[in-house]
Amino acid sequence: MKRFLLLSLLTTIPATAQTPHWSFQSPTGQFDRATLKRGYEVYDQVCATCHGMKALTFAELSGIGLSEDDIRKTAATKQIPDGTDAGGQPKTRAATPDDHLPSPFPSDEAATQALGAAPPDQSHLAQTYEDGPTRIYAYLTSYGQTPPPGLKIPPGRFYNPIDGAKITAMPPVLTDDATTYSDGTKATTAQQARDVTTFLAWAADPHLNQRHHIGEAAILYLLALIVLATLTKHQIWRKRP
Ligand code: HEC
Repeated sequence: MKRFLLLSLLTTIPATAQTPHWSFQSPTGQFDRATLKRGYEVYDQVCATCHGMKALTFAELSGIGLSEDDIRKTAATKQIPDGTDAGGQPKTRAATPDDHLPSPFPSDEAATQALGAAPPDQSHLAQTYEDGPTRIYAYLTSYGQTPPPGLKIPPGRFYNPIDGAKITAMPPVLTDDATTYSDGTKATTAQQARDVTTFLAWAADPHLNQRHHIGEAAILYLLALIVLATLTKHQIWRKRP
């Protein structure tokens, strides 16, 4: 029974052929830092053109392995709103590590006007749906199929069987080499989808790694207790001659 409990605690949900295996979803699983770093590059170079990520500060990118210096430099390349100038015109300034990641559109209305629909903020996108990471991955890799007969796709819209309405205003953005990876990884559609999905899962739950480390320590502690308890029990109930 103990063995069974432990096994069920430590084994992971089996992955299907199409979707990657999400290592971070097992009880002691961790986010892989190299994957997270690549995922941020996909987010930054592709998704951030349309989607924002308001809940995350640049400083928190230390969680994906960026150094303080990397973070300062990354932030400094982004412009964020900074009130208005004397003539009432909106001003911007370079971001600092304490700033939140910028949103590309000032409002949902402006985004809808530009894109036909407002792209949701991605801070918690991986938690919006049950099994969010698998759904995001599927969403990104399900473009280009032939729509069922009878489904008319209006101009500027795209067939995507994963979308609730099967028709989306988001174009197929993850084409091969849409991202330039700094570690030289080949940016296939599947690679980018896997990396950015992992990054989005991290962004929605940046403290998972620490929590899972604590979980591992707790399991070891419990195992030690079981051993001690078993030994004590044998000691107490030992048949005396
Ligand atoms: C050209 C602009 C654009 C880019 C770039 C873009 N998106 Fe989107 N995205 C949209 C729009 C617009 C919607 C809303 C679609 C709708 O409601 O019809 C959307 C919706 C989504 C959805 C569906 C959300 C839901 O509630 O079903 C996901 C998932 C998504 N985007 C992920 C991404 C990821 C990840 C990236 C980067 C790899 C990305 N998007 C890049 C415009 C974009």
